[in-house]
Amino acid sequence: MLDDQTEMKTVNFIQMKDGTKEEYEFLDVLEEEFVAKTADRVLKALEGLKHSISGYKVTRYDHSLQSATLAYRDGADIDWVVAALLHDIGDELAPCNHDSIAEAVIKPYVREEVSWVIRHHGIFQMVYYAHHVGKDPEARQKYKDSPHYQAAVDFCERWDQRAFDPDLEQLPLSFFEPMVHEVFGREAWAEENLKPGVQVPLYKT
Ligand SMILES: [Fe+2]
Ligand SMILES: [Fe+2]
Repeated sequence: MLDDQTEMKTVNFIQMKDGTKEEYEFLDVLEEEFVAKTADRVLKALEGLKHSISGYKVTRYDHSLQSATLAYRDGADIDWVVAALLHDIGDELAPCNHDSIAEAVIKPYVREEVSWVIRHHGIFQMVYYAHHVGKDPEARQKYKDSPHYQAAVDFCERWDQRAFDPDLEQLPLSFFEPMVHEVFGREAWAEENLKPGVQVPLYKT
């Protein structure tokens, strides 16, 4: 069967329901190889933020690196640092719900609390500006009973809203690359990575 798989270039079916066991096993191997390169694609997508939303003093790419640098300097663990790096990765494709994209990208690999914070950082960040544009700065209050509320507050205050400063320290992407590879090299959806109920402080007091 392995010989068949190595010889096969593409499947024969043109409707999924007609695929054979051998064809789906062949596709499985390719998918595994594709998944293994997720980190590379994520890093490439991050580069796309160099040409993202304008008007700020720094690009979203610089903002992402600054955010990750702040997290790293705070002594945050790898899940937090990678999340800080990728928290705005959805800006290009989903500017109106960018946090959902970032959450979807990291969710199979990091603690649930980290995914939750990334998913909701947009609404938590509104406390800094919403009153200027006729929106509710306290919209995040609807999550006040969440066990992750304070982590989301801290994420925005310490790593997100501060990272728009051209003079802020900004470690290069190459510094964070091994961390991205480590996180995306984990087994997707493994409980040991999702760690339900586990909370790790963003910084040391
Ligand atoms: Fe954001
Ligand atoms: Fe941000």
